[in-house]
Amino acid sequence: MTEASFKTLAELSAIALRAAAAQPFAYRAELDLAVQGMHALEFAGDAKPTGHPVLERHLKPRAVRHPHAGAVLDCLIDAAPYGNWTSGTNAYPNEPGMEAFTADYAFMSISGSARWAQGCYAVSDKVGISYTVQGPNVTYPDHAHKAIEIYYVISGKALWKRGGEPWIERYPGDVILHTAGMRHAMKTADEPLVSMAVWISDIESGLVVVRA
Ligand SMILES: [Fe+2]
Repeated sequence: MTEASFKTLAELSAIALRAAAAQPFAYRAELDLAVQGMHALEFAGDAKPTGHPVLERHLKPRAVRHPHAGAVLDCLIDAAPYGNWTSGTNAYPNEPGMEAFTADYAFMSISGSARWAQGCYAVSDKVGISYTVQGPNVTYPDHAHKAIEIYYVISGKALWKRGGEPWIERYPGDVILHTAGMRHAMKTADEPLVSMAVWISDIESGLVVVRA
C-alpha cells in the first residue's frame, strides 16, 4: 500500500512536470532531468508514518483546481498519512523567524540522497523530492543551497522571491526554478500553499538561511 501510494505520487508528479515543460518559456532541460529521475525511482516501502498537525489544518481538497496539479493534490492527500513529515526545525537552529515559520509548516521527502534518506522511501543520487504544506500568513525566510531546485505549486498560492527579483504571485501549475546558491523565499497570505520541491543537482548538499 505504501509503496504503491508513493510510486503513484511520483508518477503523477512526473506527468505534472512534463506538462509544465510543454509550456512556452519553461525550464525544459531542468524539468526533463527531474522527470527522468522520478521515473528511475524504486520505492523500498519502509515508511515510518508520523502524522503532523499541519496536515489536518491545511492539506485539503480545493474547489479551484489545476488539472495536473489537482491530480497530484488528490494523490498527496491519500499518501500523506503514510508519510514521514517534519517541520525541519533542526535544520535552522536559533534563526530569527524560523520559530513562527516551523509552527505552521511541514514537509515530507519521498526520495533523496543517503544523507537525507531518513524518512525517504526511495534513495536516489539523482532527485530529491519533497512535498510541502505552508499555512496562511507564513513566511519561509530567505534561504539558499547548492542544489538546483524546481518548485511546482500544487494548490493555493504564495508570493515568491528569487534572488533580487520582486515578489511574484505564483499559482497551481506554476514552476519556479532556483539556481545553485540563489537566495529565495516564499510567503503566503490568506491561503495555504501546497507545493512540490525537486532537487536535481547536489542532492547531498545542505541548506542555509540567508540574512541581509
Ligand atoms: Fe530551496
